[in-house]
Amino acid sequence: MIVGAGPSPFTETSTSARRAAYAELAASGPVQQTVLFTGVRVWLITGHAEARELLTHPHVVKPHLDGPHLDEVPAELGAARDSHMLMRNPPDHTRLRRLVSAAFTRRRVDTLAPRIQAITDALIDDVEAAGADGSPVDLVAAFGYPLPIAVIAEMLGIPADMRDDFRTWTTIAINGSVYPADVYVDAAEHLVTYVRQLIAERRAEPADDLLSDLIAVRDGSDRLTEDELTSMVNLLLLAGFETTANLIVLGTYALLMHPAQLQLLRAEPARLPAAIEEMLRYDAPVQVAIPSVTTAPVELAGVTIPAGEVVIPVLFSANHDPARFERPTEFDIGRADAAQHIGFGHGIHHCLGAPLARLEARIAIGSLLARFPDLHLAEPDADPARSPALLVNGLTTLPVITGGHSQATSPSADRLRS
Ligand code: HEM
Repeated sequence: MIVGAGPSPFTETSTSARRAAYAELAASGPVQQTVLFTGVRVWLITGHAEARELLTHPHVVKPHLDGPHLDEVPAELGAARDSHMLMRNPPDHTRLRRLVSAAFTRRRVDTLAPRIQAITDALIDDVEAAGADGSPVDLVAAFGYPLPIAVIAEMLGIPADMRDDFRTWTTIAINGSVYPADVYVDAAEHLVTYVRQLIAERRAEPADDLLSDLIAVRDGSDRLTEDELTSMVNLLLLAGFETTANLIVLGTYALLMHPAQLQLLRAEPARLPAAIEEMLRYDAPVQVAIPSVTTAPVELAGVTIPAGEVVIPVLFSANHDPARFERPTEFDIGRADAAQHIGFGHGIHHCLGAPLARLEARIAIGSLLARFPDLHLAEPDADPARSPALLVNGLTTLPVITGGHSQATSPSADRLRS
């Protein structure tokens, strides 16, 4: 079901082929014009310095309507989908981001830790039970996905029985450009219809959740329009779920593929936050920033991009730029400058959910390692499949052998979890 699949990192569906395609892309220079697999002519910005410059450039803006299949999406659906901060520029962007930013500060997010830990522990119990007889467990389906969707669903007050439907719709919606228009429009419509219904229910009966807070803002003096409110909830669902799932899975995969690094982390659990920065650098869960448009000629690395062109910073490539990172293709949790990655973007659209994503990854990966001292890949020589997508980078499955569990939690296990 891939539309116009051609040779590009985004459509390569094996890990080795995607890495090779990224290497090929990087070899063509930090700024290059190309035709995407969608048929759209764009400029890809692959250098670290150039991508950062572009993301803060005064003559580069987000288009107001830019979701996939614009021509096929009914205007009303487009407005309910795209009227959010990631598609807006100041002053609109500033206003929309301010309305929700208080819920995502590091301090506020840290109060969610006990609940995230409880969700994680329950999922790990299920993983342990499923793998107790030595059979492989798919870490994507059993752990990586359910954890962040449970967290964002609880924050927004989405009932547990809706989460499977959500996974289906959001996966298509966030990777829309690789699906045929009718499949995409159907999923986007389901998502928007459900979000509207949820808003109506919460408006009738407010609760102690983020959605009720956002509705109160809508009805207060600052006022989100109905489309802005629907789009905001949509964005939080899309941005907060598959991205974090992929960080958890890709991060664990990187560790399991690099036994010396895994051993180092097990021996020195205080390295976990730095290890997560290296995971974000090494295998960025969001490969590109949302496309932007130039409003005047922009010069980058000696190349002049004319006005009115679509420009896409390739975050994965920037994080592998040898001009910024030594030995960029090596996974090294001791790397002093890993946090210089731009896996969460850069500039005014820098990821609002970064503190939440980091916390979830810390709890998820720390708890997994603590519970399963012998965790290993079920198929160490496999070349795991990646989902084709412009935006998100993730594995379709990751079979692991849990290899029993630690009966008495050791001090290092406790530290890994905290
Ligand atoms: C590992 C997980 C995540 C990654 C790698 C990631 C990555 C990104 C990136 C690269 C951007 C900037 C895109 C651009 O400039 O075009 C972004 C923006 C955003 N992210 Fe995340 N994200 C993650 C998790 C989350 C979570 C958990 C949430 C919230 C629940 C979230 C909410 C947002 C929002 C609201 C924006 C738009 C910010 C703005 O436009 O001002 N993200 N994210």
